[in-house]
Amino acid sequence: MAANPGEDSTDAGGGPVRHIPVLLNEVLAALEPLPGKIILDGTFGAGGYTSAILGTGANVVALDRDPTAIEAGQALVAESQGRLRLVHSQFSRLADAAPSGGLDGVVLDIGVSSMQIDEADRGFSFLKNGPLDMRMSAAGVSAADVINRAKVADLIRIFHFLGEESQSPRIAHAIEKRRAEKPFETTRDLAGLIELVTPRKMKDKIHPATRVFQALRIFVNDELGELAQALFVAERVLKPGGRLVVVTFHSLEDRIVKAFFADRAGKASGSRHLPVAHERAATFERIGKPMVAATEAEAQANPRARSAKLRAGLRTAAPAEAADISIFGLPNLASLGKLGA
Ligand SMILES: C[S@@+](CC[C@H](N)C(=O)[O-])C[C@H]1O[C@@H](n2cnc3c(N)ncnc32)[C@H](O)[C@@H]1O
Repeated sequence: MAANPGEDSTDAGGGPVRHIPVLLNEVLAALEPLPGKIILDGTFGAGGYTSAILGTGANVVALDRDPTAIEAGQALVAESQGRLRLVHSQFSRLADAAPSGGLDGVVLDIGVSSMQIDEADRGFSFLKNGPLDMRMSAAGVSAADVINRAKVADLIRIFHFLGEESQSPRIAHAIEKRRAEKPFETTRDLAGLIELVTPRKMKDKIHPATRVFQALRIFVNDELGELAQALFVAERVLKPGGRLVVVTFHSLEDRIVKAFFADRAGKASGSRHLPVAHERAATFERIGKPMVAATEAEAQANPRARSAKLRAGLRTAAPAEAADISIFGLPNLASLGKLGA
């Protein structure tokens, strides 16, 4: 598990944080944008990928669920002379923004931007004190709601599955005890308690609260569900010959993308219920290497790039397969959404 929401974007100088696009050359090589093509950038962020794609002469439809990213992107829309449409939307709904004739490419750069982590008010980082929020869309259930209201068994599952935190029961029980006296409100408040119950050891490379913060962020924003749905929708809206390029930053996300492309490669399949294997037509063929990581030079220059993994597929003419979420082998966390109700 490499993504590190609390620690991957410290700005030692204290100035505004710039988001450096990760694996940009590799993304462009896999996406092959050309004049006249229509590419959907599902994670506009600071517009790094979108600017580069516009630079090739292609048209871009860009989405972001964060209203501040959409606001900041208006200058690029104005500059683009009608070649960029920027839409406030989650990428699981990318079909709503796609032209009726389909798309030539879809790119997703999963996770949070450096600006989101850097803004203390968003509550993504325990390095800066802020409200325990973590909502990219600035709407819905916040991290504080989860911490203060979820059943202890659900907290254990969230920390264990989404953070791969081995001390989940200990942390969840300590949270339950503390919140009975006083609800958690800030990032430092929560990080402080976690540090108290699972103190940092000499060999630990990361802060004891890192995994819990990651789990909360993924849960609050339903990041795995968003990714899984976006892959299914991209399969439906890409034209034959269209390209799907996905950059992920931790193993849970990469596992989903890898499982999707493996499932869509059209291998023979069989199951206990359908023991006779049947051939399925591939809906995606691999583009280049199975997985592309950052070069040593990029990882040195941009710590965020260290855990990045790119996977890409070329859409065939075969009809889209069923959107069957079981191919990802994810545990059913939907019941957790009720927050202890
Ligand atoms: C890593 S940044 C993207 C950076 C961008 N590629 C660039 O070069 O500037 C991820 C962005 O995706 C957005 N995002 C994350 N999940 C999303 C979702 N499900 N739907 C739409 N946008 C999402 C975040 O708000 C954030 O702005």
